[in-house]
Order: sequence, then structure tokens, then C-alpha cells
Amino acid sequence: KNIVILISGTGSNMAAIVRAAQRQDWARRLDARVAAVIANRPDAKGLQTAREAGIATAVVDHKGYADREAFDAALQAEIDRHDPDGRPALVVLAGFMRILTPGFVAHYAGRLINIHPSLLPAFPGLHTHQRAIDEGCRVAGATVHQVTAELDHGHILAQAVVPVLPGDTADALAARVLTQEHLIYPRAVAELLQKI
Ligand code: GRF
Repeated sequence: KNIVILISGTGSNMAAIVRAAQRQDWARRLDARVAAVIANRPDAKGLQTAREAGIATAVVDHKGYADREAFDAALQAEIDRHDPDGRPALVVLAGFMRILTPGFVAHYAGRLINIHPSLLPAFPGLHTHQRAIDEGCRVAGATVHQVTAELDHGHILAQAVVPVLPGDTADALAARVLTQEHLIYPRAVAELLQKI
């Protein structure tokens, strides 16, 4: 089954999924082919990581389009080009920092997932770690969820919990959460692929 991963930056979650799909140990391997990694920014660091892993890459730069509809149409065409059936089994958002249109979301209904660095439904949106610290949360974490037209909503597929420690900075908490993201995201992708 083909999956396409969308990134905007570092792409460490993307790299974790690629590693899982390329494992030599077949019993632990993610049974999927990462058909392409697509970024909306030409300078996304993860593009180089993907190329080094032998994955096809593409850039669909949002700055080149007049509105969200035009950008999403171009993005959709680029994604679907990488699957012989014209639509990959799964489209995986991994640090992809664009809000998607309802038409795009509907096209991939049930096949579009995201990872968000909070225990949803708490803290949708940005600056999740600082907000969790400011609220006095004792735990934080990450959520893998189906993507719907509403930002950071949609059915929850997996979560990981980490402690918020006394004196934590947003960066320290983010690093603790990110380690868990790299574990739960490949696993959630594998579980969902078995169902569709
Ligand atoms: C992750 O924390 C993810 O949850 C959030 O953005 C960050 C992306 O990191 N959506 P990376 O690009 O996967 O390294």
C-alpha cells in the first residue's frame, strides 16, 4: 500500500515512518511503501532526509497559488500522481503547517491523518507545550487523529502521555513529547492500513 507524507519542516516524524517502512526485520516492518514526501516549502529540511532514504520528493509551494483552493488542487494532483490507482492508501501529515480545504479533506476521507503535539481535545492550534505548562498540566503528550475540515479535530487513533516536570521549558517538554511521537505515529499508520 502506498502512503504519501506531507511535511513543512524538519520531518523527524516522517523519518520515523520511513525507517519503519524500510526495516530489514520484516516482522517489525511497517507494511507500506512511502511513495513520496511532499513539502509546501522548498527549504523544508526533511526533503533532504527523504532523498537520502531513497524516497521521491516534491515541492508544492503555497506561495505560488492565489488561494487555498488552487494550492490544495495542485497538492492533490501531486499526491495522487504517486499512486497507480490515482489515490494513495493513506496521506500522512507530519508537521505540515497548512490548513486544508473541506474539498481536499473530503477527497481523502478516512485516509488523511495528522499528529498533533498535545493530548487532544486539549490545546488544538499552536504553542501547545507552553500552553500546557502555563495551565499547570501534570501530563502532556501527542495525538494521532483523522483529519477533518476543523483544525486539530477528528477521531483519535492513538495517544502518548508524558509527564510535565517541575521547571520544564516548552523546548524540554517538546523534546520529551517528540520522542513519543516517533513511536506512536508509525504504529498508528500500520494499524490504520490494516483496516482500509
Ligand atoms: C511535531 O511536534 C508534530 O506533532 C507537529 O509538528 C512537529 C513536527 O516535527 N505537528 P517534525 O517535522 O516531524 O520533526
